[in-house]
Amino acid sequence: MSSFKKSLALAWLLHAQFSSAYRWPSPQYDALETFLYEGQRGDGSNLASLVHPCRKRTGTMASIAAEWLRFAFHDMATHNVDDGSGGMDGSLVYELGRSENFGLGFNQTLTDFETFPNKYVSRADIFALGAVFAVATCGGPIVPYRGGRVDAWTAGISGTPEPQNTLDTHKEMFRKQGFSSTEMIALTACGHTIGGVRDADFPMLVSASTTPGQPHIVDFDSTTQFDNKIATEYLAGNTQNVLVNTPNTTMASDLRVFMSDGNQTMRSLSDPNTFMSQCQSLLERMFNTVPHGVSLTDEITLIPAKVWGVQLTVEKDQLVFKANLRLTQPTDSKLNMNRTVTMFWCDKYGDSANCRGSTKSAPSAKVVQDDPNGSPIIARMGIYFVHYNFVVPIQGSESISKFWFEVDEHNGTSTTVHNNEGDNYPVAQDQIIFVPTMSTALFRSNGSYTKTYTNRNGEAFTKVYNLTVAVRQGSNPSRVYASAFDNAIHDFPYALNTTMDFSRNSSISSIGGYDFYSGSLEDIGFQTTLDLHVDVDGTTYSEDFVPTSFLDNTPYIEPSTVNNDAHPVSSSRVTSALSAPFVAGSTLIGLLLMSVPLHLV
Ligand code: HEM
Repeated sequence: MSSFKKSLALAWLLHAQFSSAYRWPSPQYDALETFLYEGQRGDGSNLASLVHPCRKRTGTMASIAAEWLRFAFHDMATHNVDDGSGGMDGSLVYELGRSENFGLGFNQTLTDFETFPNKYVSRADIFALGAVFAVATCGGPIVPYRGGRVDAWTAGISGTPEPQNTLDTHKEMFRKQGFSSTEMIALTACGHTIGGVRDADFPMLVSASTTPGQPHIVDFDSTTQFDNKIATEYLAGNTQNVLVNTPNTTMASDLRVFMSDGNQTMRSLSDPNTFMSQCQSLLERMFNTVPHGVSLTDEITLIPAKVWGVQLTVEKDQLVFKANLRLTQPTDSKLNMNRTVTMFWCDKYGDSANCRGSTKSAPSAKVVQDDPNGSPIIARMGIYFVHYNFVVPIQGSESISKFWFEVDEHNGTSTTVHNNEGDNYPVAQDQIIFVPTMSTALFRSNGSYTKTYTNRNGEAFTKVYNLTVAVRQGSNPSRVYASAFDNAIHDFPYALNTTMDFSRNSSISSIGGYDFYSGSLEDIGFQTTLDLHVDVDGTTYSEDFVPTSFLDNTPYIEPSTVNNDAHPVSSSRVTSALSAPFVAGSTLIGLLLMSVPLHLV
């Protein structure tokens, strides 16, 4: 077998290994994957762009990446291996008053993060994700990322190292966090390769700023990049690191830490590959240090062909089904503009239920190409995303049970099918659906206030939602209601976690076999999501994790014309689509992006 074929075989094996892991829908995995690879929340608000490309903060000119990485370390540092408490749990929010958590950078980082958590992505997940972005965007390793951290709602124990502590104290602190004395040296070097020390926080180490409004920050090494200059400059004796090079020996903590094993670890880190691989594995452990009993998700790997934004809804007096297919495109290749992407689906009711009679299809209504810099992770992988948006009219009497996609490049290659690993993408229920275009959110300012934990001033507001859902006619529901959730709230108070009821809204006449119900909700946060429920004859039908971001400002896309007698490719002609997730940073990415005809393997 040629090495190319061997690689393809390996790619295929990897595919086989991962293919059992992911099936749509997996709301938590899907939300985490969108954050990691698109850099953003479901509504398009981008977290990664705050830090990427290795940005400095407007005003202070501090390294945002450094602030975010330090933030993750300080959140983790409350872990205690002896009793399994603490770790990355978001408790840092409540610990900023402590001297060990000195620093304006922390307050600004909190503001960066506060609008992003949601039901499936905790605050601590966001803190870890921010650190993964920070390291990657400044040229460091791509640290594998998992979600599932559980937020604490109170402060944890103290335990973050301060420069004036003794070496023994530092060793004990790192032991408690789960790191050996050697790992303490390497992890501190990995942290102190970006950012520096500020005059306001450590006036005994850094002279006062001469630029009004801008702190004087002395970087730990001569570059802003995540590189091993922190080690090589230290070993060469020309480091600018004020935690090494200071007449104030009490504060020379990096010197004490770095030389604590006779510089053996620092010498090993002077090899750039060792530095990168050590930092990758130690930072991964740091981000995954969580209280005992918390189980993290699988590693979040890229889903090459991802389905998102799926909903049955009513738009302009018509029942429509909306779905999007996100495909992956290498940055250095041109998008094939001749490509057609077709969605196929089966009815749920009637003669053609489950495609027994005929199958329907429609072309994509719109194609959207993403910015290749949406996330530093995809920027580093050399890929970007192309979204095929579908909007199709649906007859209420037929509804929809499942759907899938075919991609035809029109270049002689065979058609690629994306069918959820053979299961097709299910539309689990159609009893209750959300109608964003008949819902509104009014923003009511409550004036300015002082934030409790971070001492910053912000504008308080309440969002008043008037929400409309639709319930299938004839089901005679005993209750129509929603669980509303929001943990993206200014100043990190308890999350909104409430239940609201909808009542029949007969001012809207029935459409597409659905009756309308309305209700209202108030939230002081940024990211309300709803789990809709309807109780019918003792059964509860639910629609999980429905966003409220667009509502009456939903961009309208004209539905496509439907082919009522479609002929999907037969399974014998199907080229297997590598739609399984794969590992970030893998050298096999280029290979995996291709469709691998089975005969090559
Ligand atoms: C003995 C252990 C450590 C001590 C005593 C220590 C101490 C410090 C101090 C005093 C600063 C300056 C903060 C300021 O001026 O506001 C700092 C900055 C920083 N530390 Fe550490 N640190 C230690 C370990 C770590 C570790 C393990 C990491 C992460 C893996 C880390 C990441 C950072 C980063 C990224 C900055 C720069 C922040 C910025 O520029 O905004 N540190 N550290």
